[in-house]
Amino acid sequence: MNAPLLQINGLHVAYKVYGTRHHVLNGISISVEKGEKVGIIGESGCGKTTTLKSVLRILPSNALIEGGEILYDSKNVLKMDGNELRKLRRTKVSMIFQDPTAALNPVFKIGEQLFDIIRAKYEDGGRSLTSKEIREEAEMLIRQVMLPEPERILSSYPFQLSGGMRQRVMIAMALASASELLLADEPTTNLDVTIQDQILRLIDRIVNEKKLSIVLVSHALGAVRKMVNRVYVMYAGTIVEEGRTRDVFENPLHPYTKMLLASAPKLTGEGISEGIPGRIPDYSSPPPGCRFHPRCPSATPACRFKEPKMVEVEPNHRVACYLYSMRGE
Ligand SMILES: Nc1ncnc2c1ncn2[C@@H]1O[C@H](COP(=O)(O)OP(=O)(O)O)[C@@H](O)[C@H]1O
Ligand SMILES: [Mg+2]
Repeated sequence: MNAPLLQINGLHVAYKVYGTRHHVLNGISISVEKGEKVGIIGESGCGKTTTLKSVLRILPSNALIEGGEILYDSKNVLKMDGNELRKLRRTKVSMIFQDPTAALNPVFKIGEQLFDIIRAKYEDGGRSLTSKEIREEAEMLIRQVMLPEPERILSSYPFQLSGGMRQRVMIAMALASASELLLADEPTTNLDVTIQDQILRLIDRIVNEKKLSIVLVSHALGAVRKMVNRVYVMYAGTIVEEGRTRDVFENPLHPYTKMLLASAPKLTGEGISEGIPGRIPDYSSPPPGCRFHPRCPSATPACRFKEPKMVEVEPNHRVACYLYSMRGE
């Protein structure tokens, strides 16, 4: 079998805050095959964005990668030099951010920003395009995200567009450079509910058409369920469960997964989310053992001492919880 397109092995990331280290990512491992669609779910603050930003090496300056490796096409991203990283970002992997205002520069027109990305991508591939070719490609991308009147969009400034339009523009920009892997970080969180579904369907369609791989982080669990092949459940910087989407949603194993799925607003729109009692731990002194034990209704003394290892409970369905492995293992 070929190596996965992306393989994160035992990644540890901390943030330095006033001289104290906050140990956020606690040795996570995630893999994505070529053409595979993978989801990451978990409450806010669990480390999902940190994970995605690590892949592109765009973590904030107070972040420290303390251990592990990130292999892209078998090459360690953490050891890439500036040139290799630039190539990775321009031609292979791109990210759709939660907040489009963070990705769009307010002082340049959409067209100028998109043209730059397209130009850079071709230059990296050893080709230079004429301005006309660049414009044509930009218009094609704008049409692909189903925005009307590409010329008008290209000559607009970000503030002249609605939130939904900006999000589409950002998807177009991500598509301009992603030829293999799209990292979508809550791509619809800031949008009106009526547009959320449209945007996710659009992303899904494009991923299918272009045969991209995607890592989708979203609180819209119904959409995640429909869209991805495999899902990772993340709690406080640890992967607590992973498996095929159907297995995880229909037969969640980890107490955290069970509570997370139960706390999501019902897919029908009825019922009110209860939330999970308690809160994410303080990362400057995370609880020993299983990080979820202080909130876990099934916790036993063993859970406080040693972190449970991942065990495979059914084919390709793994969980890190002593309920499924020998106590104290
Ligand atoms: N630059 C930073 N400095 C300090 N702490 C940070 C920084 N960025 C994120 N964090 C903290 O790291 C934890 C994980 O954050 P994040 O990766 O954004 O989680 P998620 O995307 O799952 O909501 C949170 O507790 C957050 O406050
Ligand atoms: Mg986030």
